[in-house]
Amino acid sequence: MDPEFDTDTDLQMQSLLLAAAHHDIAALRNLLRNTSANVQDSETGFTPLHAAIAACEPDDESETPAEPSKQVNGHLNGDNGADKRTDSEERKKGLEVAAQTVKLLFQNGAIWNDLDQNGETPGCIALRLGLKELYELVVDAGVRAELLLSRLDEYQLLGDGNDSADEEDDDIEIIEASEAIEAENPSTENTETQVATEPEVVSQDASTTNPTYLTSPLTFTQTRLLDSSANGVMMSWETALMKRSAELLLPTPNLRVLNIGHGMGIIDGVFQSHSPSSHHIIEAHPDVLKRMREEGWNDKPGVVIHEGRWQDVVPGLIERGDMFDAIYFDTFAEEYKALREFFTEYVIGLLDSSGGESSEGGKFGFFNGMGADRQVCYDVYNKIVEMDLFEAGFDTKWENIPVPDLQEAGEWDGVRRRYWALDKYKLPTCSFIG
Ligand SMILES: C[S@@+](CC[C@H](N)C(=O)[O-])C[C@H]1O[C@@H](n2cnc3c(N)ncnc32)[C@H](O)[C@@H]1O
Repeated sequence: MDPEFDTDTDLQMQSLLLAAAHHDIAALRNLLRNTSANVQDSETGFTPLHAAIAACEPDDESETPAEPSKQVNGHLNGDNGADKRTDSEERKKGLEVAAQTVKLLFQNGAIWNDLDQNGETPGCIALRLGLKELYELVVDAGVRAELLLSRLDEYQLLGDGNDSADEEDDDIEIIEASEAIEAENPSTENTETQVATEPEVVSQDASTTNPTYLTSPLTFTQTRLLDSSANGVMMSWETALMKRSAELLLPTPNLRVLNIGHGMGIIDGVFQSHSPSSHHIIEAHPDVLKRMREEGWNDKPGVVIHEGRWQDVVPGLIERGDMFDAIYFDTFAEEYKALREFFTEYVIGLLDSSGGESSEGGKFGFFNGMGADRQVCYDVYNKIVEMDLFEAGFDTKWENIPVPDLQEAGEWDGVRRRYWALDKYKLPTCSFIG
């Protein structure tokens, strides 16, 4: 490559990062005509978005997070009333310009979830600095990007049987667009229902695809179920979440429940303690099924075990007219679109919305762990799930459950990847609207 060209590109990149950090909208707009909004500094890993948000970090501990320009010679202005007012007005103004900068970058295709050298996305920085408005802008951009990607994915599938030349061309463009977004937007490859976002690891990890997982040996201990790559399939720290889900799904005895994914049998154990009238379990992994037999699950009251993938078992249940008052879904190594397919296509045929045996009407729940290794990803996926559930006709109630510090408790020792890093779990309970 021409070294002069290289220097020019580097100069443009540095100018862009600088303009972003200074919230210099005019300069930024100019530079974005010829330079991508997705340049990344090789030393810090900062993109212009990182720079724009990080620039709001106060230099001084006494300073409230705001904008970099409100200091005079590195010191805060005096502390009388007028100064404080000026300070807060300037802070407000500074944040407004920062927000405009962030918006401009998104309008120019900035990626919401690139990681810097500290492993932070722009949203992580905004959250750490308490910049609520900027954080929300990032979350909204994340939602838009992920929605677009999933819609493109669907469009791609729809286009698959198409043989008109023109439409084929369209397909190619759409596929290219989708691939471009995926390449730039790693976490979208990674919306596992259980395996949360850590794009670098999971996207290249064949062990986390469903067919590979289902044919690989598992290890059970008292407190965890691991796959052959030491990924946590299920861990006993989730017991409180399972308990509360079961309580909300089966508020009274004598209800009919369907659980998809037995794992360590935690939620099935809690369901049993609620004396269901029937208790169906779908499980696909041979090692889990073997253990279920060893533990006598076949002989427990009301239990019917369906061996196989839910994708293969559920159509038969619907055909037979089996209906349930409660359904719980918690599989492993499946993408978010599997969960979405389940609640969009199948729950309607399985859940007794009339109330049936339950005075409250049928309820559907699932393990809500997408993107849970990073707050900003969790917030993005929660918004997407909420929208998709609504579109599928569900009214969803959310309950926040505190999660202790799992790192400190040593929960991740010997586990390949920390799939949960947050202090709150958002527990969903869904019922049909109306
Ligand atoms: C996270 S664990 C479930 C944990 C369970 N909620 C508990 O309380 O112990 C996921 C389970 O889903 C099973 N599974 C994964 N893919 C599946 C599929 N397509 N159909 C049925 N079961 C599946 C796995 O073998 C595993 O046992």
